[in-house]
Formats: sequence, structure tokens, C-alpha cells
Amino acid sequence: MIDLTTEYAGLRLKNPIVVASSGLTRNLRTIKELEAAGAAAVVLKSLFEEQIEAEMSQIMSPTDYPEAADYINAYVQSNEISKHLDFLREVKQEVSIPVIASINCFRSDSWVDFAKQFEDAGANALEINVMRLDTDLFYDANKTEQMYVNIVSSLVRAVKIPVTVKLSKAFSNIPSIVDKLRAAGAKGVVLFNRSYQPDIDIEKVQMVAGNVFSHAGEISDTIRYAGIVSALVPGISIASSTGVHDAAGVIKCILAGAHATQMCTALYKEGPGFVAETLAAVEGWMDRKGYRSVSEFRGYLSAGGIKSATMYERMQFMKYFSNKEN
Ligand SMILES: Cc1cc2nc3c(=O)[nH]c(=O)nc-3n(C[C@H](O)[C@H](O)[C@H](O)COP(=O)(O)O)c2cc1C
Repeated sequence: MIDLTTEYAGLRLKNPIVVASSGLTRNLRTIKELEAAGAAAVVLKSLFEEQIEAEMSQIMSPTDYPEAADYINAYVQSNEISKHLDFLREVKQEVSIPVIASINCFRSDSWVDFAKQFEDAGANALEINVMRLDTDLFYDANKTEQMYVNIVSSLVRAVKIPVTVKLSKAFSNIPSIVDKLRAAGAKGVVLFNRSYQPDIDIEKVQMVAGNVFSHAGEISDTIRYAGIVSALVPGISIASSTGVHDAAGVIKCILAGAHATQMCTALYKEGPGFVAETLAAVEGWMDRKGYRSVSEFRGYLSAGGIKSATMYERMQFMKYFSNKEN
């Protein structure tokens, strides 16, 4: 009997496949289909900081940024928090897998008290997705890191459920920020968020949105940092995200050290039933390799056995280029 169970951020999961926050998880019918196909947990579609703040205090006066205020007010009217909380309660009633609430924020921690409402509505954990691209030449990057830490510290004080952070790759030292988040009380990190991808239409000569879906090759950094972070920051769970498109992707992330994986693009493309197919293929691989449980191979290929993660990375780099003609 193969044991697919794993522990992520203090949640006991029946297997390592979590459905990532997306349009898939804003629809109850799809969530139920995903559960039926075997998904171990779902991360609900994010609630945006702007929604929370606008509901709190109508902070943005129409004279500040008229266009943004119009947009946000319209958005808030149709997406107010109470609807989000009602949806969370409904999902909790209808499914038995863990439900993770997600907040997409970019600035302060002034909305953190709202997290308690997610907890009261039944969320099993919180995922904070800090979407921030600092471009001010004179803004100290340490302040950004401190802002992440402050948000986590405030959340941990506000709720008892596990707090996790979905990070972008835009940090100069990812293990270091993960360790700071761990010290602040975060129980898990999602590595990585896939932010908006800009592109340029050269015929229209204008900026356009790139593909919202990832491609399988994007798993490289996901594997790299599961390997490095799991070795250097053992006190925090990792959910690998971006480019996990199939059973091989799930297995690679776990071998590198992830506790769980989050899937999105593959489920949009293949449908909810793809979870079952992926799980069957993971089991098939475990059977062939003689593994009886996920814990037996988790981290087998992390940077753990090597003294320095920098040297681990350097070794992979040297192997790579010594195999090429240049
Ligand atoms: C249509 C769509 C909507 C998404 N919405 C959210 C969201 O609300 N919050 C969030 O944290 N991530 C969101 N994501 C990002 C996914 O959760 C995921 O991190 C990203 O797609 C990378 O995973 P993948 O390679 O499996 O697609 C969205 C992705 C897609 C494709």
C-alpha cells in the first residue's frame, strides 16, 4: 500500500497535490470536481488588499488617483469581502479537504485584522501573496523584506491557523527571506508565484499581456529553490509552484525537498480529472522505484548533503556548461 500523505504547513494532506489559487478555485463546482479527482487541498482565489482596505475605510479618495479610485470602487462593489467569506463558508460545508484562504497584498499590514474573519469562516490556513515590484531607485530593498516580515508577524498574532507566504522570485537571497519569514512565524512558503508576464506586440507597437499560463520549462527555478531552501531552512514547509505540469513535475519537486506542490496551468488545460491521472502516475513511479511513502524520497536530491548551497548551485552550473561546446 503506497502512502501519499504529506505534511504541509501543519496541515496533514492526503497527497502532495494542492490546487493553486486561481479562477479554478473561485467556483464551487470545480472545487468539488477537483476534490473528487483527489486534490489534497485548495487555495481559494485571492482576495485583494485593495478590496479589504476599501471596505475598511474608503481610504482612496477619488481625488488621489481618479482612475484607480473608479476602478477599485467598482471592483469593491462587486467583490466585497462578505461575498468572499460566504463563499469560503460554502466551500467548507461542501468539501472535506483543507481550504486555504488567499490574500493578495502589496503594501501595509493594516488589513490584517480581517484575517481573523477568514479563520472564523473556517479557513484551514492563510496564504499571503505579496505582489510587489519595487522600482524606486532610492528605496532600500531591506524595507521590502521587513514589510513581508511585519505582515507575517501581525498575522501570526491575529490568527491561530497556519500562515504561509507565496513568494515571487524577485529576491536577491531567497533562503534568507524564507528564514526571516520562518522566524516571524510563517509555517510555509509557496515557491513561486508567477507574476504578470509583460510582452510587446511589435505590429501595434504596444505593451500587451503575455501568456497567463506557464510552460513546463519554468519548473527549473522551482526545483532549484526547493532543493536549496529545504536544505537551508528546514523549519518551514515548501509548496512548489510554477511549472508543475505532471507527475514528473510533482516527483521532481518532492525529490528536491518540497512538502507539497501547487498546480494551476495543467489543471486549466487538462481539467480537474488530471489530478487523478497525476496521482496514479506518481504512485506508479513510487512502485517502480520501491518507495512506499512520500517521506522516503522527499529531499533525496536537495542541497542537504552538500556543505554549501552556493557550491551546490555552482556545481550544477559547472556540470551544465562543461557538457556544452562553449
Ligand atoms: C487565470 C489565473 C488566475 C490566477 N489567480 C491567482 C490569484 O488570485 N492569486 C494567486 O496567488 N495566484 C493566482 N494565479 C497564479 C497561480 O496560483 C500559480 O501560482 C501560477 O499559475 C503558477 O503555477 P502553474 O505553473 O501551475 O500555472 C493565477 C493563475 C492563473 C493562470
